[in-house]
Amino acid sequence: MTLLRTMPVQDPSSTLLSTEDPAEITKHLAEAGIHYERWNTDRGLADDAGQEEILQAYRSEIDAVSASNDYEFIDVVQMRPAPEDPEWPEKAHAARSRFLEEHRHAEDEVRFFPAGRGCFYLHIGDRIHAVVCEAGDLLSVPAGTVHWFDMGTVPEFTAVRFFQKEDGWVGDFVENSIASRFPTLDQIMAER
Ligand SMILES: [Fe+2]
Repeated sequence: MTLLRTMPVQDPSSTLLSTEDPAEITKHLAEAGIHYERWNTDRGLADDAGQEEILQAYRSEIDAVSASNDYEFIDVVQMRPAPEDPEWPEKAHAARSRFLEEHRHAEDEVRFFPAGRGCFYLHIGDRIHAVVCEAGDLLSVPAGTVHWFDMGTVPEFTAVRFFQKEDGWVGDFVENSIASRFPTLDQIMAER
């Protein structure tokens, strides 16, 4: 279940709003200028489905998003626990650290989650909106919006990414990021 928690920038320990109702989440995010929508995930995909199968399963929705926003580069990223790989904890830590501090992008950051979980933290005005995305969620972070992303200490998700330019994922990081003062994805899930 998707979750939205809104906190004041000046007080990470207090919660202004917390909801798991998709309609409420859509409404509150729209008020903050953020586009959020849900896609039906009943596509008969196997747990180990690869990039091409995933893209094919969501083809009509993906084509509609791409056409309306000139997204030319679409790919799929997958993070799965791999206990048989002795280097997995290190890889997971490195992947998690990459966008765990505040940054912005030159284009919208559009992600659809066919499976798994990850949390976007959107810094808008004097508020932080933590959006825990799960299977079926599409979130679009507008270009220039300061944000960070936490995939948790045990990352497990599949995300379809949409880019206008091939390097659209490159982040411009903010000095003195406040990200570390806020609850992590693991903490938000534990408090759910
Ligand atoms: Fe980002």
